[in-house]
Amino acid sequence: MKEKVVIQICMGSSCFSRGNNKTLKVIQHYLKEHGLEGDVVLKGNHCFGDCSKGPVVKINERLYENINSDNILEILEHTFN
Ligand code: FES
Repeated sequence: MKEKVVIQICMGSSCFSRGNNKTLKVIQHYLKEHGLEGDVVLKGNHCFGDCSKGPVVKINERLYENINSDNILEILEHTFN
């Protein structure tokens, strides 16, 4: 069985208000559009303690910093291609 990709998006107030609220929707839309929902575990997390690098998203334990709704698409493309 293929291992699922784990995407953790910081929903702490700093990351959330600085863009992860939109980024969450972008990720959900991307997964749906590419039929990836079954291959991914998408979780919202409390503050990772990295607010100064935020908004942050973790994919399989790798932390991505300064996320916005554009660069998340590049990261998703890179992750799933
Ligand atoms: S709110 Fe996201 S790291 Fe603190």
